[in-house]
Amino acid sequence: MNQLEMKKIAAQAALQFVKPDMIVGVGSGSTVNCFIEALGTLKDQIKGAVAASKNSEELLRQQGIEVFSTNDVSSLDIYVDGADEINPQKMMIKGGGAALTREKIVAALAKNFICIVDSSKQVDVLGSTFPLPIEVIPMARSQVARKLVTLGGAPEYREGVVTDNGNIILDVHNFAIMNPVEMEKELNNIAGVVTNGVFALRPANTVIVGTPDGAKII
Ligand code: 5RP
Repeated sequence: MNQLEMKKIAAQAALQFVKPDMIVGVGSGSTVNCFIEALGTLKDQIKGAVAASKNSEELLRQQGIEVFSTNDVSSLDIYVDGADEINPQKMMIKGGGAALTREKIVAALAKNFICIVDSSKQVDVLGSTFPLPIEVIPMARSQVARKLVTLGGAPEYREGVVTDNGNIILDVHNFAIMNPVEMEKELNNIAGVVTNGVFALRPANTVIVGTPDGAKII
């Protein structure tokens, strides 16, 4: 079974958490795209969705699902999103699709953060397989990069990518993230950093892993 098929299994299984009249928080990425397609089958039963990226917003509308602004809701029952890596504590690295800031904002509104992944995303230590994305104000790019080097990272400018918020992304290699909560706080304190892709202060509540044997809910 290939990775896309496993993503589809996880996305389909997330539908069981969607209840009538809900406004569903929706992240972004290829796994979430599968979820949006599946959510289309429930479009007449839900109130709508809040999206964490312009791309997801567009796909939701194509499915006939109304999209609300985060400013229109005070909380969300569920937020469904993918991850680049997830550890046994349900902490994640996110931002492979450059949507990390809006994803963190929408996740913060949710009572139940449901992370949908294929099994290749499961790691023991964050940073083992995927560089850490950091969204940075463009004028601070070089100074943030220098600071990241002093912390032991090897930042790489993601060429040609501008986030939905008009900023740039630095992908930091060589970070073995042994203490994700402290790392998330430390990186957020660097002047010029908008958000970093460590999702540890607000981990997922529910993880759905797509496997060849079906969806495993943790
Ligand atoms: C986007 C994200 C995605 O959730 C993450 O990159 C996983 O993507 P995919 O489902 O395509 O593997 O954080 O910013």
